[in-house]
Amino acid sequence: MKDRLEEIRVEALKTIDAAQDLAEVEQLRVKYLGRKGLLTEVLRGLAQASAEERPALGKAANDVKLAIAESLDNKKVQLSASQEASAARTERLDLSLPGRKPLRGHKHPVMRVAEEIIDIFTQLGFQVATGPDVETEYYNFDSLNTPEDHPARDLHDTFFVKPGVVLRTHTSPVQMRVMERTQPPVAVIAPGRVYRVDQDASHSPMFYQIEGLLVDKGITFADLKGVLMLFIHRYFGPETQLRFRPHYFPFTEPSAEADISCTVCAGKGCRVCKHSGWLEILGCGMVHPEVFKYANYDYETYTGFAFGLGVERIAMLTHAISSIHYLYENDLRFLEQF
Ligand code: PHE
Repeated sequence: MKDRLEEIRVEALKTIDAAQDLAEVEQLRVKYLGRKGLLTEVLRGLAQASAEERPALGKAANDVKLAIAESLDNKKVQLSASQEASAARTERLDLSLPGRKPLRGHKHPVMRVAEEIIDIFTQLGFQVATGPDVETEYYNFDSLNTPEDHPARDLHDTFFVKPGVVLRTHTSPVQMRVMERTQPPVAVIAPGRVYRVDQDASHSPMFYQIEGLLVDKGITFADLKGVLMLFIHRYFGPETQLRFRPHYFPFTEPSAEADISCTVCAGKGCRVCKHSGWLEILGCGMVHPEVFKYANYDYETYTGFAFGLGVERIAMLTHAISSIHYLYENDLRFLEQF
C-alpha cells in the first residue's frame, strides 16, 4: 500500500506540473482527490490494514494528499497569472471604437413648463408655497366659502379619502394655509397636484395647478390684470392678448376666467381654439371677504387677488399636444421629443 501511495504521488505531481490550463487542473483534482479519486480508493484499503500498520499508513496517505493539494494550488496560481498576462497581450484596448453613450433622462414636459411659470412669478417677487395633496374638507371647501350644501361642491367631483378628508380638488386650499400663518403683505405661488373624478381628452384624474395669491392694502383688479399681462407676455410672447370673461367661484368676488389670444392662429380662428380665436388658461378673481374672515384678516383693510392655472393645458398649448393623456402614458417615444 505504501508503494501504491508513492506511485500515486509521483504520477500526480508529474501530470499536474504538465497541465496546460485551469480546466485540466480541475480534472486532475477530481482524478486524485475527488470522492471517487485514486487516493480515496487507496484510503478505503486502510480498513484492511493491521492495527499496528494503520497509523503509519494513515499518515503517509495524508502526506500524499497534502502534497497533491499543494501542487494543485500552485499550478492554479501559476496558470491564472499567465492567463492574465496573455490576455493583456492579445486583448488590446481599441481606442478608436465609438463610445457607448449612457441614456440620459430629463425632466417631464409638465415639470419643465411648471418651472418656467414659477420662474416668471418668483422674478416678480412671489414666493413658492406648498400644501398637502390629502386635504381636509375644511381647507378644500369650507374655509374657501364653499359650505357643505353649496352647489359648487358638486362641480368638483371630489375623491373622498374618508369623511372630512379629500384629495384636494384645487390648489386654492394653500391660500388659506398661507394666510393662517402669515400676515399681509402676502405674495405666493403654490404649484401642486390636484385630483378630480374626471377623464376625457382634456381631463385627467390627476393634474397640476399653479395657484397665485397676492394680498395687501389697496390691491385692485387692475393689479391682477397687470400681473397676468406680465406673465402671459413673458411666457407666450409680447403679442399675446388677454381677456377676462365673468365667471363664478365661491372664494372670489368678482370672479373671471382669463383667455389668451390663440397661440396657434394669433386670434384668426383655427381648430385648436375651436375657431373662437381665444384659449382659456385660468380662473381668477378678487379674494372674497368671507375668505379673509376665515383667515382672520381684516377685510376692511386688505384686499387681494387670486388665480389658478392648469399646467397641462399650458404645456399642451406650448407643445401642440392634442390629448392630456399623452403626458401621462409615459411612452418614451413621446417623452423623448422634449
Ligand atoms: N380653484 C379654481 C379652480 O380650480 C381656480 C381659481 C383659483 C379661481 C383662484 C379663482 C381664484 O377652478
